[in-house]
Amino acid sequence: MTATGPDTEVGQGLLSFPPDFTWGAATASFQIEGSTTADGRGPSIWDTFAATPGRVRGGDTGEPACDHYRRYADDVALMSRLGLGAYRFSVAWPRVQPTGAGRVEPRGLAFYDRLVDELLAHGIEPVATLYHWDLPQAMEDSGGWRARDTAHRFADYAALVHERLADRVRQWTTLNEPWCSAFLGYGNGIHAPGVVDPRGALEAAHHLLLGHGLALRAMRGAAPADHRFSVVPNFSAVRVDVDDDRHRLAARKVDGLQHRIFLDPLAGRGYPADVVADTAWLGDWPGVVRDGDLAVVATPVDWLGVNYYSPTRVAPASAEHVTAGPFAGLRGVALLPPRGRLTGFGWEADARAFTELLERLGREVAVPLVITENGSAFPDVVAGGRVEDVERTRYLVDHLRAVHTAIGRGVDVRGYFAWSLLDNFEWAAGYGQRFGVVHVDFGTQERTVKRSGHALAEVIRHNAVPADDRLG
Ligand code: FCB
Repeated sequence: MTATGPDTEVGQGLLSFPPDFTWGAATASFQIEGSTTADGRGPSIWDTFAATPGRVRGGDTGEPACDHYRRYADDVALMSRLGLGAYRFSVAWPRVQPTGAGRVEPRGLAFYDRLVDELLAHGIEPVATLYHWDLPQAMEDSGGWRARDTAHRFADYAALVHERLADRVRQWTTLNEPWCSAFLGYGNGIHAPGVVDPRGALEAAHHLLLGHGLALRAMRGAAPADHRFSVVPNFSAVRVDVDDDRHRLAARKVDGLQHRIFLDPLAGRGYPADVVADTAWLGDWPGVVRDGDLAVVATPVDWLGVNYYSPTRVAPASAEHVTAGPFAGLRGVALLPPRGRLTGFGWEADARAFTELLERLGREVAVPLVITENGSAFPDVVAGGRVEDVERTRYLVDHLRAVHTAIGRGVDVRGYFAWSLLDNFEWAAGYGQRFGVVHVDFGTQERTVKRSGHALAEVIRHNAVPADDRLG
């Protein structure tokens, strides 16, 4: 089979991806590593949160997760068998600096050294994320992301990890999903540190963006020319049932507080005026924005990561209605329940919304896009050494076709990372939601490649997704 270009249907109904397209899978430190007290690692906000009764389903914690800290070499061998060209992982700040500032723990850094060396030995490109939510608890104790100092400490940490791995890691991401850190962590408190303070969430959003910009500047200043830097927001497509002004306004408000509050300052446009006005009743949060901050935030990235799972359905509500849940602080909007095809997590599966989102980003974002997360949770059954996860496979294939369609329409998408390589600790849902293309038995730590994992391997082998349903 020859890959002739993004729009070409090749051979027996195969939709081919560009020849240099990157195929990978993603994980995050706290979700897979386990060994939460090994080698001098300090506690993170997720250790504290998980240890607090009622916060995480079933009282699950970061132990044992996938025991990846000790089994990383086997896991890299597994990635190699799947044919992954790249692996997106995150570095645990509390392993590297147990209190988030000052003293560096060499044994923590050494783990990422070993992981990177193992990846390179298997021809797999490491893509390092510096912050995937595991803030050192000591940093939270001094204000967390609501405190400006955290942004500076994050930049220090980013610089020292970059310095250590710069000779082997070329692809870097500062933050994973700052919206979740800010609005789930400090808005409605369903994620660590579990704080309910909507105005604080907005301040956290700014300090996260500031930390991103400071980290970017610190790393870029010391980076070889071929290093590429990015940030990874989470995206949705905001859906309304009626195409009228009231509904469009409701959609715009949610889009503002989820997407534009990050995209606009990253692009150098500052915070969107309508978002600032909509949230003014919470108090003067833009007051934390100091002279010069917006220029730091707008430090250019080389690519933008796109995490996409499902659309968000909204409708207009009365002006006083305060949106419950993650958009705490937003008035005049109601969030509607998902509908249609749902995953096991109750999230709506909508691949067409993915194409629409990518087309929108293609129009609005000046840099190439990389799909840094996409996937679905369903309950799995291991039978006879196999996991026939037909629904997850279908989600995967549908969403890969959606990416292919977007590329065919001219959107510059450079890669796709499946979420996730392994079933893992799914935050507040604990081990109850399985997103892996590889099944993990958390009792025995046995790994079983699911049907979806085999499908991903086939896609990678052909650099193409079938137009028909042969995989799923
Ligand atoms: C994203 C997170 C990732 C994982 C998936 C399901 O929001 O970045 O860690 O939990 O959702």
